[in-house]
Amino acid sequence: ERLLAPSGLLAGKHVIVTSGPTHEPIDPVRYIANRSSGKQGHAIAKAAAEAGARVTLISGPVDLPDPKGVTTVHVESAREMLTAVEKALPADIGVFAAAVADWRVANAGEQKIKKKDGALPNLSLTENPDILATISRLTQNRPALMVGFAAETENVIEHAKQKLAKKGCDLILANDVSPATGVMGGESNTVHLVTKSGVETWPTLSKTEVAGRLIAHVGALIGDAKP
Ligand code: CTP
Ligand code: CA
Repeated sequence: ERLLAPSGLLAGKHVIVTSGPTHEPIDPVRYIANRSSGKQGHAIAKAAAEAGARVTLISGPVDLPDPKGVTTVHVESAREMLTAVEKALPADIGVFAAAVADWRVANAGEQKIKKKDGALPNLSLTENPDILATISRLTQNRPALMVGFAAETENVIEHAKQKLAKKGCDLILANDVSPATGVMGGESNTVHLVTKSGVETWPTLSKTEVAGRLIAHVGALIGDAKP
């Protein structure tokens, strides 16, 4: 395993990482979710800790161990994730890799929904808060560097550029998550680093290598920002 970020690069920095999917309840026994494994977000938390940062990892439900040397906060829903991120502030760097569910059920039942002679349940959806946009737009307590992901299945770069502008973050790691790529749940990732000044396409790397390269990049940017 290559360690790409020099140790001590992020010494004295606090990094908040979000990772994994969120689960949005339908009733006490059912939920809406997505295929995120949390591997990329967890690898980033680990790489940041290895680079000497104090790391708070806010994780949705995943089948991964808590990374060593990282404070991990476990949440279920998007709204819980936002609250946990707000509680973890202030931070120098935010890397929001979670695949946050875009919608939740507005009328989630307090009891298990029962079948009723073929009548279908009437679930109405409402949009979840956008955690990356909310934190990137803070006027007080905004981390100096905000990194988002753009999970796309088509027009990857174009969509990522739109997201960068819309959400107000500094960097976007854009990736193609079409089923054929095997990114969702897989071990490797092909990402494009999108900033206001352009696009840099990285070769296909393991998720650990993507994490190391991102932390090296972020460390260089934060270093340059020093007075
Ligand atoms: N994100 C977030 N909160 C949300 C939705 C997304 O923090 N409610 C973050 C993700 O963690 C990621 C970035 O925003 O860093 C982009 O997520 P993505 O799902 O690609 O973008 P959306 O804005 O949700 O747009 P869409 O799913 O329609 O492409
Ligand atoms: Ca989304």
